[in-house]
Amino acid sequence: MTFKTTIPPKHQWVKTDDGSFTLFSEAFQETCHSSTGAKAETLFNYIVGCQIKEQLNTRKALSVLEVGFGLGIGFLMTYDELLHSSYPWKFLSLEIDQALLEWFRLEYKDHPFLKNLKWNGSILEAKTENIHLIILGGDARKTLPAFLDKNIQEIDAIYQDAFSPKKNPILWTTEWFELLKKYSNPGVILSTYSSSSSIRKSLLEAGWILNKGPQFGAKRASTRATLQGTSNPDILIQLKNSPTLALRDDNF
Ligand SMILES: C[S@@+](CC[C@H](N)C(=O)[O-])C[C@H]1O[C@@H](n2cnc3c(N)ncnc32)[C@H](O)[C@@H]1O
Repeated sequence: MTFKTTIPPKHQWVKTDDGSFTLFSEAFQETCHSSTGAKAETLFNYIVGCQIKEQLNTRKALSVLEVGFGLGIGFLMTYDELLHSSYPWKFLSLEIDQALLEWFRLEYKDHPFLKNLKWNGSILEAKTENIHLIILGGDARKTLPAFLDKNIQEIDAIYQDAFSPKKNPILWTTEWFELLKKYSNPGVILSTYSSSSSIRKSLLEAGWILNKGPQFGAKRASTRATLQGTSNPDILIQLKNSPTLALRDDNF
């Protein structure tokens, strides 16, 4: 194991099949990534799934939103992917567990970019000429609207990476996806590992257009959602025939 700093209590390291590590959270009784590979899954679902390099090159600026900072693999892999780009990009992430964020700050205090990380109240932030990382500590349902109502910006890519809908339903409801839509650019790509009918129904109810992402490892196909185009007809038929209800704030 190559980590220098002790992880906060109630978390355990778990090695995944690609050799990278993820964390098991006792609070949520779940690991942050699938056992197939924490890094491989991140690359597949988010870096490739949201087409971030292509989007940055086309837009000449990029604003990424990550739902669940966890141990920071989403940010670190985005950083590696965009390292040689000359366009500016912003990475806004959401994390309820502030002890995890403090672990991350200490662990990466020698990193060329992350050495700039500083607490500003409950926000952990680092900025250089082209890269701006902002992690909002606290419950995303409150921190995201409070922050974006004050700091208006449109999101181009969303890594929807909360714990599973069963363990972390508050970040998968119709109301949550309505919020994400409100702050998104019309050309946004939302990508998630989940293919559950309930979250697809929530996305649809919130006005998102649904497409299948490819299959990763042993998991079923993932989900890509946009605000332009048309939904995959097979998904629509499957959802129509499924008795599962959309997740809503008042039904879990
Ligand atoms: C699956 S992990 C994210 C993994 C992360 N993307 C990475 O690459 O390491 C989900 C994270 O969401 C956080 N979380 C759960 N509920 C939350 C909430 N209501 N607001 C903000 N973060 C939350 C958890 O603490 C956990 O760290």
